Amino acid sequence: MTAPRNITLAVTGASGSIYAREMLRALANDDRVERIHFIASDSALRVFAEEIELCGRNNLAEKLLGSPSTKLRQHVESDIGASIASGSYPVSAMIVLPCSMGTLAAIANGLASNLIQRSADVCLKERRPLVLCVRETPFNRIHLRNMLLANEAGATIFPAIPTLYNHPGNTTEMAQQFVHRVLAHIGLPQPGAYQWGRADE
Ligand SMILES: Cc1cc2nc3c(=O)[nH]c(=O)nc-3n(C[C@H](O)[C@H](O)[C@H](O)COP(=O)(O)O)c2cc1C
Repeated sequence: MTAPRNITLAVTGASGSIYAREMLRALANDDRVERIHFIASDSALRVFAEEIELCGRNNLAEKLLGSPSTKLRQHVESDIGASIASGSYPVSAMIVLPCSMGTLAAIANGLASNLIQRSADVCLKERRPLVLCVRETPFNRIHLRNMLLANEAGATIFPAIPTLYNHPGNTTEMAQQFVHRVLAHIGLPQPGAYQWGRADE
């Protein structure tokens, strides 16, 4: 598999702002990644404010990252005319992290009514990797049905559930391990990622 170079990262209004922050950091630090298309929903902004005291939309991606990056392209959720809204634009993979049940429902049912939903819809129609890091608990029947629908259409349902067997020392390490798993899934294995059984090799 050739390394994906052009990644869309969408953040929606589910709990898990630190996952988005660690994903952005990992993508920005990865030399194989040339472009990061970043979109946050309005609800994501509310959750950022609640969870990590990050407020406002202006330069949100840079603020999240903690520094500027020439790779970053931040889009507005309403801009359905952005490059990534078209299948002619070569996105390698899209990650929705965290993915709310609302956005899952929209993607699973082909609504495509904002840039996050449309970009996901484009990935599905173009058979490009789409990873939905869903976050809710417990799931109701509608959530479960929508996960199955999205999976049948080609998306990977990758729940934002952390691992504990790697003994994370804090929530950042927990989020990093999760991010490493998602990136390995789309063909971007990360140096230093925890791997069960490595001692056996
Ligand atoms: C602090 C906070 C945490 C939330 N956590 C979740 C969650 O974990 N999962 C979820 O599906 N919705 C969660 N919500 C509700 C969503 O933000 C809400 O359904 C929203 O309409 C989703 O919109 P979006 O998909 O456009 O981002 C949360 C809302 C707030 C304010």
